[in-house]
Amino acid sequence: MTYTLITGASSGIGRAMAFECASRGMNLCLVALDDLALYETAQEIRRQYSVEVHCLGIDLTVESAPVEVYLWCRENDFDVDVLINNAGFGNSGLFEHNPLQEYYQMLELNNHALIGLTYQFLPDLKNHTSAHILNVSSMEATLPLPYKAVYTGTKNFIYAFSLALREEARNTGVAVSVLCPGPVLTNPEGLQRLRSQGKSGKILMMMPEEVAKIAIKSMLKKRRVIIPGVLPYLIVKLLKVMPTSLKMRLLERIFRVYRNLPITQSSGLKKSEIPHN
Ligand SMILES: NC(=O)c1ccc[n+]([C@@H]2O[C@H](COP(=O)([O-])OP(=O)(O)OC[C@H]3O[C@@H](n4cnc5c(N)ncnc54)[C@H](OP(=O)(O)O)[C@@H]3O)[C@@H](O)[C@H]2O)c1
Repeated sequence: MTYTLITGASSGIGRAMAFECASRGMNLCLVALDDLALYETAQEIRRQYSVEVHCLGIDLTVESAPVEVYLWCRENDFDVDVLINNAGFGNSGLFEHNPLQEYYQMLELNNHALIGLTYQFLPDLKNHTSAHILNVSSMEATLPLPYKAVYTGTKNFIYAFSLALREEARNTGVAVSVLCPGPVLTNPEGLQRLRSQGKSGKILMMMPEEVAKIAIKSMLKKRRVIIPGVLPYLIVKLLKVMPTSLKMRLLERIFRVYRNLPITQSSGLKKSEIPHN
């Protein structure tokens, strides 16, 4: 029996991907912070789908966490053939306005844990004739965003790492994909972004379920870079051909609203707070 391991599976995009995978009959190992949302997610999936769901509550910013996750799978015979590195968070505001410790924590979760988990699971994944790694980056990876400098850097790291690892694994059964969503309405940061950007923010915003459907389908098709939504895709392509100086000035102008708006992205958005179209 094989399993799909998803980090950050208790809310937002990770939770939606867990439901999407379950709907395709994939057994699940869900990893997130040790709180009720994780266990409720697992229970809800078990209620709706006939798949096996196991969960591990763990803080992935702790250095030993990737090894602990791997050992948990080994000791329980969870044969992982799909690894989805989704857990991550971001913040915004002038670089020097946010606490340094928060940036270090962001690097720990967004990059350190992702590298650690990939390192632990890759040899086993290579034993499968077909296996997948899906790393969750962001549309922001390819267009550095002023006022989200560290977050955008962590996502650029994931993007570059994923493309490079994919080539290293070309002659194995492991396909590495990188997911680059635009804004997704998952947590209070997204809600504040929506409010601060007005109509333009709403045009790009997607719901986690839409992103998850596209992400899992494209991952299974072994797509290299997955950018959900036509508009985010066109924006990424357009900005790629724009001269860097012009692009950066444009992005600074658009994202100036974040300058004095230090927002830390976290989970826990109440359903009632999500505006509907
Ligand atoms: N939302 C967007 O607009 C957007 C756009 C592009 C890319 N992304 C990326 O997509 C991924 C998911 O984002 P999201 O918006 O869905 O996030 P989210 O709703 O805030 O969910 C984050 C998930 O990660 C878990 N998590 C947080 N800190 C953790 C830690 N230290 N150890 C273990 N698990 C931890 C959370 O668990 P708890 O619920 O217990 O806190 C939760 O399950 C992130 O990598 C993000 O950068 C998001």
